Order: sequence, then structure tokens, then C-alpha cells
Amino acid sequence: MVMKSLLLFCCTTALLYSPTVVHSMSEEHRLEQRQKHGYAQWPPTVVPNTPGWNRIMNRRFEQISRIRNRDDKWNAWVAIMTSALIATNYTENGWGLTRAPDHITRRLQLRLNRTLLEEGIIDPSGKYTYKEHYIPVIGGEEHARPLMITNAHDNREILNEMTPFFEWWSGIDLKPSIAYGIRAYRNDSNLLMHIDKPTSHVISGIYHVGRSEDAEPWPIVIEDFHGNTNQVYLTPGDILFYESSKCNHGRPQTFYGGYYASLFMHYAPASPDFDGKALLHERDLAVPPHWHVDFPPQEGLDEFEMVGTSFKEPKCKNLLCSLDETSEQSKNTVNWYGPAPKGMIVTNGWDPETMEPPKEWVERGYDGGKKRDGNADGIDSDNSSDEEEDEL
Ligand SMILES: *[C@@H]1O[C@H](CO)[C@@H](O)[C@H](O)[C@H]1NC(C)=O
Ligand SMILES: *[C@@H]1O[C@H](CO)[C@@H](O)[C@H](O)[C@H]1NC(C)=O
Ligand SMILES: *[C@@H]1O[C@H](CO)[C@@H](O)[C@H](O)[C@H]1NC(C)=O
Ligand SMILES: *[C@@H]1O[C@H](CO)[C@@H](O)[C@H](O)[C@H]1NC(C)=O
Repeated sequence: MVMKSLLLFCCTTALLYSPTVVHSMSEEHRLEQRQKHGYAQWPPTVVPNTPGWNRIMNRRFEQISRIRNRDDKWNAWVAIMTSALIATNYTENGWGLTRAPDHITRRLQLRLNRTLLEEGIIDPSGKYTYKEHYIPVIGGEEHARPLMITNAHDNREILNEMTPFFEWWSGIDLKPSIAYGIRAYRNDSNLLMHIDKPTSHVISGIYHVGRSEDAEPWPIVIEDFHGNTNQVYLTPGDILFYESSKCNHGRPQTFYGGYYASLFMHYAPASPDFDGKALLHERDLAVPPHWHVDFPPQEGLDEFEMVGTSFKEPKCKNLLCSLDETSEQSKNTVNWYGPAPKGMIVTNGWDPETMEPPKEWVERGYDGGKKRDGNADGIDSDNSSDEEEDEL
């Protein structure tokens, strides 16, 4: 009864890292459902089915097949299934860079500056300024633990006010989920590559608020649907839009400097057709039958290691082979620099040297941040639990 013990393992794991209970079903039943739901083909058809996305995903499938620890392996499979095909894509590239409205940047900077510059808080224990609890995805020792400079009411207002801004980029109606932060990363910290929850973190933004004068450049790294790894160097007041449950992202390089602060904004599609819980079920079904098999090492395939629900490539510089210039993987890496232009979205297909946007992208329906008609009803009025979740 080898299968039985495998199953127990997978059930425990799935429950540990996600609220889904799909693994109360037997492996036999899972595979039956898998067939019925149309996931029998291997390798699967990825979404979107571009050469670049196929290249990224097929390499990861091979890497994950060589993870030895069974918990890690299951977590890696469910994450990759979400990213590769279960979560749909809403944009062409999966990311875009733009300039945030000045009045909101000012508002966030006042909060940050009062706390970190004027009060000089570096070791807080207050209600609104505190050290973030430990999350495996954020690296570094105790002294590197991020600071949280929070204001749930403000965050909710900003999240609501900026909904049309995110709708402009994504092209769909959105329901605000959460704005998390301001989080100030500190010296010696990093953030491993990961995807976010597919239930609530679908269309997201990283709003760079400010950083210490001594902060060294620290790009956000995001993979896109055309197989590029983008290193985006944000300027305070820039927002990186991204499909956060779809595209792996992180800051795997170590940060050097006093602090680096951002607000993390998350939205879900407002459409009644969007069913987050169903996605969790589907992603478990899509995991291939051979998920628990340990494949032998393959020449030239980089080692892949899970850390909680994030990953690293431990043998490569910067913990990601595409950020290691000695690796073949780095040839699809592109650098982008803020400040982003106002009212426009910078993304692949543009010249990263000049960031001059092609005409057809300009002002695609952007209404300057005013609420669109019929859009306000998606707004979630509950703001009490904003700071309790484990948000990335
Ligand atoms: C999904 O990505 C593909 C590849 O870039 C693109 O052709 C397609 O239009 C995207 N879907 C949406 C809804 O933007
Ligand atoms: C906050 O501090 C930074 C760094 O000193 C400065 O550039 C920025 O203008 C300040 N923002 C506000 C709104 O005071
Ligand atoms: C950050 O940490 C490094 C050691 O990793 C140290 O050399 C440097 O002085 C520190 N910088 C700041 C701003 O604390
Ligand atoms: C959100 O919380 C603030 C206090 O933190 C409260 O004043 C406000 O009414 C709340 N808003 C909603 C919509 O619940």
C-alpha cells in the first residue's frame, strides 16, 4: 500500500499551505476527476500558449520532478499548475509599469516619512508600526525583518480609489481585495520568487513609496508570458502592475541599505464567473499522476528548491539562474528603469532604453482615477482584517 502513505503525505501538506480540502479525496478519485476535467494530457497546454511561457513552464516541470522532499514537491506542483494553466491571463505580458497619481504618492510618503525619517523608528513595537511576523519567503536574519507602517483605513481608501487605475491596465472590472503595508524591507533582506493566492491576488500592484538615501538599486523581478525575466528598477511613485497569481515574482537579490518601502495592492475580477475556490480545486486536479516520482538528475538542469511556497535556484547567483549572467537562462532577462511616464503603461515590446510608449497604448480608457460608473458595487466594505493576513 505505497499509495496510501503517499496520499496521507499529500493531504497533510495541501492542508498546511492552503485552505483547500480537495485532498480529502483519494488519489484514485483525484485522477479520475483529473481526467474528467480535461487535464489528462501531459505536458499540459499552458495558458497562454506562447513559446516563451512553454519554455519557462516545461523547464520548471522538469526541475520540480527532481525535488526530493515530498511536501515541497506537492507545493511546487500546485503552485506551478496555477501559474502554468489554472489561472487565466488577463493581459498580454502579465506586467506593466506606470506612474501613480502624485496626490496618493504624497499621502503614502507622509505616512512613511513621519515614521521612518522624522521619528527615526527602527525597532518599533507600536500598533501601526511593527516588525512583520516571520514569513519564509522573506530572507534575512532578525535585523532584516521588514517594518510595517500601517493604516488600514487609509489603505482601504487608496485601494478603492485606485480601482479604475488597475481596471485600466487589466481591461476587466475589479473587486478590491487588500492593500498590504507600507512594508519597509531592511538591510540584508530579500524576497524569493513566488506567486500569490489565486483567490484574491489576481490583478496586483507594487507601489514604491520611498527608500533610504543609501538604498542600493533593488529591482523587482517578474517573469512574463513571452518567456522574459524582467528586472524593473522602480522610482518612488512608480507602480508595477502584475498578474500576481500567474507570474512568478520576487526580489531574490539581497537588499543593501537602510530601507525600501512599498504598498502591495491586490484585486480580484469582479465578474460572477470568477470563482477563486474552484481554482484551488482545479489546480489540485491538474497536478500530474507522476507528481510524487523522483526523476533522476538531468545534465544541465538547474537545481530547484522550495522554501515554503516560494522557490530558489540555490546554485545560481542571486538565487535565480536568469539573474546569473554566467547562466544560459539569463539571455531572456530585460532591465527596465523608472520613473515611468504618466498615463501610459510600459511593458515588453517597448524600447527599455527610452521607454517611449507606442501610440496605441496611450490613455487606454484611463479616467484619471475617478470611479467608473457601475464599478463601485464591487468594493468590499470590510476593512477590519486587512493587516492579519499573510500577504505577499
Ligand atoms: C493572454 O496572453 C496572450 C499572449 O500574450 C495574448 O495573446 C492574449 O491576448 C492574452 N489574453 C488577454 C485576455 O489579454
Ligand atoms: C519623503 O522623504 C523623501 C526622502 O527624503 C523625499 O524625497 C520625499 O519628498 C518626502 N515626501 C514627502 C511627501 O514629504
Ligand atoms: C548592510 O549589511 C551589510 C552586511 O551584509 C553591511 O556591510 C552594511 O554596512 C549594512 N548597511 C546598512 C545601511 O546597515
Ligand atoms: C474602516 O476602518 C476605519 C477605522 O479603522 C473606520 O473608520 C471606517 O468606517 C471603516 N470603513 C468601513 C467601510 O468599514
